[in-house]
Amino acid sequence: MKGVILHGGHGTRLRPLTHTGPKQLIPVANKPISQYVLEDLRSSGICDIAIILGDIMPEKVEDYYRDGNNFGVNIRYVYQEKPAGIAHAVGLSEDFIKDSPFVVYLGDNLLKGGISEIVKEFQQKGYDAMILLCKVENPQQFGVAEFDKRGNFIKLIEKPEKPPSNYALTGIYFFTPTIFKMIKKLKPSWRGELEITEAIQLLIEEGYKVGYRIVEGWWKDTGTIEDIIEANILVLDELEPKIEGTIEDKACVQGRVSIGKNAYVKRGALIRGPAIIGENTIIETDVYVGPYTSIGNNTKIKRGEIENSIIMDNCTIEISTKIIDSIIGANSEITANQKGPKGHKLIVGENSKIVL
Ligand code: DAU
Repeated sequence: MKGVILHGGHGTRLRPLTHTGPKQLIPVANKPISQYVLEDLRSSGICDIAIILGDIMPEKVEDYYRDGNNFGVNIRYVYQEKPAGIAHAVGLSEDFIKDSPFVVYLGDNLLKGGISEIVKEFQQKGYDAMILLCKVENPQQFGVAEFDKRGNFIKLIEKPEKPPSNYALTGIYFFTPTIFKMIKKLKPSWRGELEITEAIQLLIEEGYKVGYRIVEGWWKDTGTIEDIIEANILVLDELEPKIEGTIEDKACVQGRVSIGKNAYVKRGALIRGPAIIGENTIIETDVYVGPYTSIGNNTKIKRGEIENSIIMDNCTIEISTKIIDSIIGANSEITANQKGPKGHKLIVGENSKIVL
């Protein structure tokens, strides 16, 4: 079994975070989203992996994962010049896949519990393809499964206006190389992309065996800022506490908290878990870090309160208010205006969102 991770795409809904890198590298609980994907493949015994790179700073992905050795896998990089669709990206992996069955995992999808059991089922049942479905409130935003009156799965439709069910197609697909034949028959959809949903639909229409399974735990497609904050909550909910840094006397660390190497929590600070603090990060006296907060490496929280947020690496925060439900990109500085007229002094890049 081989694996294909999709690491390209548009990233428009996640601007400005995607001005400086692909969305799949955005950290959730201090780890890039696509690393959860890679680790899930590895835990399922899949170590030969192709990463399909897009046109948003692909070098950052290669820099991070390199040949895969540090992550216990072998990585081949394949370049997709333009985001021409998921099926187009999958089609580019044909030379790598050869005649092996394989898993396609969208690099921005997170699945509780992972895929190892499903990999076994796919292999045992001899399916030509298998999909994973998840019950959602907003099926219009996904590929959707249709069932007949007897409950048999009969059809897949991409982002239907009138969804035939609440079962969304997750971005985790199990294929045999037969899918490449179907991809070659595709024409661009209304959004100008080669849709993997249509390729699977062709398999169904041509009588191939397409199995499905319903997701039991949670599944998250991290397509929007709100999705990423929610993914951070879901992952932190399962955090294993680990204290590797220093907590001074009279600092208070409550609940499930992970504190990285050389991190320092000073007296009077309060960290209420679940929360994660990265390596070499300093939480100064009297700072409050509330539940569902991830703070990256080499960051200084000098003053203020932070809750339900992601603060990335190398940031400095020194404020007299509270940051909530926020994502702060790496190397940012947020400080209080202590001199001069009262008001907010803002230097903000394109496509930012600020709620004051
Ligand atoms: O997340 C599940 C959904 O993913 C499915 O329900 C839909 O059927 C499927 O079409 C897809 O919908 P999205 O609109 O969310 O796809 P998006 O354009 O966000 O791309 C999904 C991932 O694939 C993302 O990690 C980027 C990557 N990608 C996408 C395109 C279009 C590529 O690597 N190359 C591409 O050309």
